Amino acid sequence: MDNENTSGSSLDAREFRNALGCFATGVMVMTSSGGNDGLIGVTINSFSSVSLDPPLISFCLADSLTEFDTLMKSEHFALNVLREDQQDLSNQFAKTSPDKWRGVAYREGSNSAPIIEPNHAVLLCTKHSHLACGDHVIIVAQVEEVEYGDEEPPLLFYKGQYRRLS
Ligand SMILES: Cc1cc2nc3c(=O)[nH]c(=O)nc-3n(C[C@H](O)[C@H](O)[C@H](O)COP(=O)(O)O)c2cc1C
Repeated sequence: MDNENTSGSSLDAREFRNALGCFATGVMVMTSSGGNDGLIGVTINSFSSVSLDPPLISFCLADSLTEFDTLMKSEHFALNVLREDQQDLSNQFAKTSPDKWRGVAYREGSNSAPIIEPNHAVLLCTKHSHLACGDHVIIVAQVEEVEYGDEEPPLLFYKGQYRRLS
């Protein structure tokens, strides 16, 4: 029963996840100031580049996220690309907890979104548009500022596990 899709799709849900896992990705923590609701941070790997001119990217947010409603009202984000020594941080921002930010070093970006320190790279962006798709929403955002150059390699995710470049 667990492996059935509720949408009527005949594709086995486990098979679908297994196939998606064959696409190796980096790992990011998407952050937002969250306004009165407080800082938001969610581990994501659904990042994609969309357009070079204007500079657009996209990422997907599950409608089940605790802070989903706040995120849908958020205009500014930081996409923090994690380093390979930040697996614990990835796990911290992937678990439901009122205390996701405990012990996390960060500074405020120029768009008010928190920039996690250290990081492999950062994209500061402003929401461009969104599209509800199934149980996720695709957020398209325009990148306004970038930081990169960290020597530490990035954290990778492949077949449901963290991996290293080296
Ligand atoms: C490697 C990895 C990638 C993830 N990618 C996404 C993603 O792209 N979109 C998303 O909504 N959730 C993603 N998640 C799950 C969220 O991080 C997780 O559901 C969320 O942080 C749970 O916290 P919450 O219950 O407070 O919302 C990912 C988790 C991991 C470990």
